[in-house]
Amino acid sequence: MPNNLPPFIPDNAPFSEEQRAYLNGLLAGIYSVAPGSAVAASTPSSLKIAVLYASQSGTAETLARKLTKELKARGHVASLTSLEGYTPATLAEERHAILIASTYGEGDPPDAVEPFFQQLCLEHFPRYQDLSFAVLALGDSSYEHFCKFGIDLDNKLAALGATRICDRVDCDVDLDETFTNWKSSLLERLETNTSALPARTAQSSIGLATAKPTATYTRENPYLAPLIERRPLTCDVSSKLTMHVAFSIADSKLEYEAGDACGVLPENDHSLVSEIIDTLKFSSDVPVQLPKSGATTLLNALTSHLQITRLTRKTIQAYATIGNCQRLFDLLIPEQQSHLDKYTYDRGLIDLLHDYPGVLHDPADLVAMLPSLAPRLYSISSSPKAHAGEVHTTIAVVRYRSHNRDRGGVASTMLAERIAVGDKQPVYIQPNKRFRVPTDASKPIIMIGPGTGIAPFRAFLHERRATGANGNNWLFFGERSAATDFLYRDELESMRNDGHLTRLDLAFSRDQERKIYVQDRMLEQGAEFYRWLQDGASVYVCGDASRMAKDVDATLHTIVEQQAGLSKDAATDYVQQLKDDHRYHRDVY
Ligand SMILES: Cc1cc2nc3c(=O)[nH]c(=O)nc-3n(C[C@H](O)[C@H](O)[C@H](O)COP(=O)(O)OP(=O)(O)OC[C@H]3O[C@@H](n4cnc5c(N)ncnc54)[C@H](O)[C@@H]3O)c2cc1C
Ligand SMILES: NC(=O)c1ccc[n+]([C@@H]2O[C@H](COP(=O)([O-])OP(=O)(O)OC[C@H]3O[C@@H](n4cnc5c(N)ncnc54)[C@H](OP(=O)(O)O)[C@@H]3O)[C@@H](O)[C@H]2O)c1
Ligand SMILES: Cc1cc2nc3c(=O)[nH]c(=O)nc-3n(C[C@H](O)[C@H](O)[C@H](O)COP(=O)(O)O)c2cc1C
Repeated sequence: MPNNLPPFIPDNAPFSEEQRAYLNGLLAGIYSVAPGSAVAASTPSSLKIAVLYASQSGTAETLARKLTKELKARGHVASLTSLEGYTPATLAEERHAILIASTYGEGDPPDAVEPFFQQLCLEHFPRYQDLSFAVLALGDSSYEHFCKFGIDLDNKLAALGATRICDRVDCDVDLDETFTNWKSSLLERLETNTSALPARTAQSSIGLATAKPTATYTRENPYLAPLIERRPLTCDVSSKLTMHVAFSIADSKLEYEAGDACGVLPENDHSLVSEIIDTLKFSSDVPVQLPKSGATTLLNALTSHLQITRLTRKTIQAYATIGNCQRLFDLLIPEQQSHLDKYTYDRGLIDLLHDYPGVLHDPADLVAMLPSLAPRLYSISSSPKAHAGEVHTTIAVVRYRSHNRDRGGVASTMLAERIAVGDKQPVYIQPNKRFRVPTDASKPIIMIGPGTGIAPFRAFLHERRATGANGNNWLFFGERSAATDFLYRDELESMRNDGHLTRLDLAFSRDQERKIYVQDRMLEQGAEFYRWLQDGASVYVCGDASRMAKDVDATLHTIVEQQAGLSKDAATDYVQQLKDDHRYHRDVY
């Protein structure tokens, strides 16, 4: 060994990831005890580590996967498992667990992880004394209950006797740097303090499973997909605009399945960027440094990398500090949260610059106070089996007016207006493995998707047609008005007419005095709905999370109560059983 390092199995050696990790661990172990080896003192013992994730849209899963890979490369025996279907009893068998958990709803776990956490909350005995753990909480600080599920999980495990390997870290949307720092300190703790950690394990034998192929394009390395089609799905006179936007992925190796989402890396509106630069009397081409992408111009940083249309507490804090603005400091005290929320609700950076002028003199200060521009996800509305080489999306264009200014959502207005057919748009696939058509093609499905919630169900319907699936298909669709907002009307009516769509129930909320929503239609058809459930139907819900998904969930419980003659508690058990059997899936946002 000329450099005194232990031998290492290269990435391209003909072994699976697990086999390589095992062999690297073995070599590290052998060389760590070799007399005279320079690494003898520092090479860690191999630990058996469970990497567990609670994820709805895949971010926590992606990070957990990266961590698992790195743990294996360092010779640990790391396993990757979702907390969906996991039990507190299984956790009690582990000695080292790393948990990466995102938050949803009002500070809740992702839907599929609720059963695990409910069971964990019922535990009162300190049964985890032998467990050492670490939690990385994922969230978005624009929500009231920032990272709450990760926080609750961390507290509960500590209360049940488990020992923290390191303190919990909370990640905001701009999470790359926080994740990297947390990972480094976690790995350091694992490797320097292994003797202080509970029970080490010997390497177990590794099976001969082959490594999974990894996606070629990711959020960090997106594919530049040509825009191939864009057309409105709503009529000119509609009160809203929803667009069909299609990309070609024919020249890429990108793969997806019906139910997945497409991640879009947006650009800010160029005229707003120019207005900000002019207001500050900065120069567009002044060089600035970004933490992730390195050196670039101010124009590029504000166009492609930084969030300028929404204000966060951190941004206000930094701006108040630079300008020593007492009125902003007053807004930042915890008792003033509701006033801060009111100020930030419908204002962006440009409003802050006008309301508190003369604060920024250095472009570096501006760049440092803004969060990163996050990708936006769109449920894919095509099926790769029916639309080979294409990814279709269904985009509701966000537009509103506040404080005398017309405003637009960054990504939806860009996709609808600022890019042209032929332009290349950075995209990636965000898998959604829990949102799939049943593997048994004869099983019936009930799809509830008002508004853009129709997107994955258009994909499901095309998928089931292309594969010749003979199970019955029932769609509940709703929008404002039949005349102007019946998205994909021709396709849906044609599928209903030829029998592929067994049932199509429609709820046009504004076509009569009293609002009618999809859940009203579900209730009207309660007996039939319950019959389908008893026949083994899977239920899928997609669209608005804030009200629709909750109301539809309540209606599902009511239908079961009424049709099966069950008590409230028994109906809750019935719906829980549907979830446990993977027959009730939600993709809500
Ligand atoms: C898994 C998943 C799937 C999704 N699928 C789809 C889909 O199929 N189709 C689809 O259209 N969207 C979908 N979305 C939503 C999508 O990702 C974006 O959030 C949406 O398009 C808005 O992004 P934007 O960049 O246009 O707007 P942003 O720049 O993010 O602005 C939106 C923000 O503007 C503010 N805002 C909006 N209206 C008002 C108002 N009237 N007053 C004050 N403030 C307001 C709110 O803060 C809102 O959060 C999905 C989201 C997820 C997580
Ligand atoms: N911030 C905003 O002002 C705003 C406006 C529109 C959409 N959005 C968001 O943008 C996203 C996409 O919207 P979208 O185009 O898909 O349409 P959407 O706003 O979800 O509306 C689709 C249909 O659902 C109806 N609806 C409203 N509340 C409902 C409820 N509680 N239960 C069942 N149906 C309900 C709507 O009726 P009515 O509209 O007639 O009530 C409409 O007929 C959603 O996340 C939505 O929350 C935000
Ligand atoms: C519908 C919805 C609700 C959310 N609710 C919260 C919340 O209450 N608190 C929070 O900190 N983050 C919230 N988030 C942000 C997510 O936790 C965050 O985006 C996370 O990175 C997602 O991880 P995942 O992709 O693994 O599911 C919410 C996101 C969505 C789409």
